[in-house]
Amino acid sequence: MQDFTYQNPTRVHFGAGQIAKVRDEIPADARVLVTYGGGSIKRNGVMDQIESALEGREWWSFGGIEPNPSYHTLLEALDVIKREKIDFLLAVGGGSVADGSKFLALAACHAGDPWEILAEGKHPQTALPLGVVLTLPATGSESNGNAVVTNYETHDKLPMFSELAYPRFAVLDPATTLTLPERQSVNGVVDAFIHVSEQYLTYPVNAPVQDRFSEGLLMTLIEEGPKVLSQPDDLAVRANIMWAANLGLNGLIGRGVPQDWATHMIGHEITALHGVDHGRTLTIVMPALWEELFEAKRAKLAQYGRRVWALEGDDESVARDAIVKTREFFTRMGAPVSLSEAGISADSIDKLVENLTRHGFTAIGEHGDITPDVARRILTRAA
Ligand code: NZQ
Ligand code: ZN
Repeated sequence: MQDFTYQNPTRVHFGAGQIAKVRDEIPADARVLVTYGGGSIKRNGVMDQIESALEGREWWSFGGIEPNPSYHTLLEALDVIKREKIDFLLAVGGGSVADGSKFLALAACHAGDPWEILAEGKHPQTALPLGVVLTLPATGSESNGNAVVTNYETHDKLPMFSELAYPRFAVLDPATTLTLPERQSVNGVVDAFIHVSEQYLTYPVNAPVQDRFSEGLLMTLIEEGPKVLSQPDDLAVRANIMWAANLGLNGLIGRGVPQDWATHMIGHEITALHGVDHGRTLTIVMPALWEELFEAKRAKLAQYGRRVWALEGDDESVARDAIVKTREFFTRMGAPVSLSEAGISADSIDKLVENLTRHGFTAIGEHGDITPDVARRILTRAA
């Protein structure tokens, strides 16, 4: 196992009725901005619960943060923060609202051009405090310091990380996810599955605790994921998926082990260029990446095949079959496993690789050996 430092500062309130806890979490004299997306929270009763929790408090709201949050929309929210002297952010929604609000938490305290935060990694010394009420289990954003923001004018979808961006608290009430459209439920399951894979499916470093945690999460997602299609109103299923997605990217399983993240970096380019939902870009890229990097990942693929899929045989065949099983799982969930299934022609591959290079992602993966040429081969396999 590799050495590491671990702290997750986000307090999680999980379960029915927990949105009321927002009241205890936010100081009584705070000037709060509630950020949200396209309006799902107004249709499913979540906003009503927020209004009750904040009754008598000073608060404003900013809606319209879109999936894959737009930098320019966030600048409008930044104006509200400055004008109203906001000193606490409450993000209510999925990963996009949480991510956008993390960027705002930093941007509100940044003296220079906010774009520097994303493009140059220039971060302020402080950030506004943030809480998250999660309505879409997928990203783990509610309990981590990551955010991804898109500049639609330039097709730049850029990730950032800051210790300052961890939410102070996160509310996870599975009932809020019962109104998710099937497509978004699927996106969440496969995104969470691939977060675990990015931290697990690399090479062995004698880290059995991390491996067993990851295998448990993958098995849970394989068992529970299809149930959101067959029994979408089952609250117990929703709860299990919500907790699995949180643990998939709250930092725990990734400590002390190598991490890949190349599927994500390539996937972000597909979203930036073609607008494909985040989770669906990953199901296209990851099996092809595993095939291309087969030798480097063979030992872990074989372990995964045996423990998660109960496959038997020699390493080579178990590892190959594990990739087949993974593709079948994504297909069963209704997620695409090729660019063509997502309506993207192979003609795009050059542009995708060019954008990856322009963003500086020229040596990615756990060994830093996914160069633009390797990325092109992965995308060609995924065509
Ligand atoms: O905008 P509203 O009207 O709320 O509708 C949203 C949106 O259209 C809808 N939705 C959310 N909760 C709902 C609901 N509809 C009905 N009922 C509910 N309870 O779902 C749609 C998608 O929401 P979005 O927030 O975009 O989805 P997700 O949570 O998958 O977030 C995706 C974003 O997170 C980034 C992705 O790149 C993408 O920009 N990621 C963030 C990460 C992180 N912070 O650690 C890691 C991930 O790998 C990922 O990159
Ligand atoms: Zn993801």
